[in-house]
Amino acid sequence: MEELKKKIELKNKKIWIAGKTGMVGQAILRQLIKKNYNIKLLDSKTLDLRRQKDVEAWMEKNKPDIVFLAAAKVGGILANDKYPVNFIEDNLLISLNVIRSSYLNKVEKLIYLGSSCIYPTNIKNPITEDLILNGSLEPTNQWYALAKISGMKICEAYRKQFGCNFITLLPSNLYGPGDNFHKQNSHVPAALIDRFHFAKEKQEKTVLVWGSGKPLREFLFVDDMAEACIFLAESYNSNEPINVGTGKEISIKEFAQLIKKTTSYKGKIIFDKTKPDGIYRKLLNVKKINKLGWIAKTTIEIGLKKYYKWYLDNLDKIRR
Ligand SMILES: NC(=O)c1ccc[n+]([C@@H]2O[C@H](COP(=O)([O-])OP(=O)(O)OC[C@H]3O[C@@H](n4cnc5c(N)ncnc54)[C@H](OP(=O)(O)O)[C@@H]3O)[C@@H](O)[C@H]2O)c1
Repeated sequence: MEELKKKIELKNKKIWIAGKTGMVGQAILRQLIKKNYNIKLLDSKTLDLRRQKDVEAWMEKNKPDIVFLAAAKVGGILANDKYPVNFIEDNLLISLNVIRSSYLNKVEKLIYLGSSCIYPTNIKNPITEDLILNGSLEPTNQWYALAKISGMKICEAYRKQFGCNFITLLPSNLYGPGDNFHKQNSHVPAALIDRFHFAKEKQEKTVLVWGSGKPLREFLFVDDMAEACIFLAESYNSNEPINVGTGKEISIKEFAQLIKKTTSYKGKIIFDKTKPDGIYRKLLNVKKINKLGWIAKTTIEIGLKKYYKWYLDNLDKIRR
């Protein structure tokens, strides 16, 4: 029990953010810089985390104290559906290689990023952490979800058998600087920002949004997520996964209207009801993290403003 309450100091530590070029990785890096901790950041630029031997050799040479595992093969419904092998295989390999070599090299703490996608469909909302594996998975992203569940269970197994301090965070849908705008790999916020922006530029009269607009979703600004990662790295030491979200939901219709306002698009939104809505509601119960003392700060309005500013400032270099 005492072990669970132990406060971990990130100051003066060797820190490795696996996935430092990704949206979450970049945000964790920004937060660490903001904190002004005297840390040594390790770089694994050319390392392919699917290759066990390379990962083990790199770990043995660099010996990180703290590992943020924010590397993953991430994508939207289309990509998941088209490349199931990549989603299950890459994510299993990345998770197993990094977690196993963290154990072998006595990493003090590993923060594993799962996802709210691992929850079954048809469960009670707001979703509590105990509902994992309590039903069947969404068929389109089951490959990704199964690999992510395995990553979480591998962390749990290493804690159980070897006492490793490896924790799993379950973030809701993220958006913010560093997002991916690839046609097949992007998520709802990136797809909509892009669509509304270009509709404004081309003075198009309408913007098409998939589905009825009725489903409810939760969106977390990525810098809040990164702040939670550091907060939990310092203060949470349990084998139980922990949700990270705002605890607030918004309909896709309201979300699209907010993006319309943020991008100053003057045309009309059309909801294409012939396209699937997906799951109706997906809201994380965030009582556990709130009770520990962390609450998401950024409102959706402010988050979207920052997101769009970053998008405009980086239009020529964003990932497509
Ligand atoms: N985005 C969301 O809405 C969301 C929601 C919940 C949970 N999460 C979780 O948060 C984590 C980070 O997501 P993200 O949105 O930041 O994804 P992202 O922007 O796509 O970044 C993924 C990172 O993983 C790296 N990566 C992928 N395959 C690799 C490999 N084989 N070897 C080395 N590095 C590899 C990428 O490196 P390259 O740039 O070199 O490819 C990139 O740095 C993931 O675990 C994801 O499941 C994300």
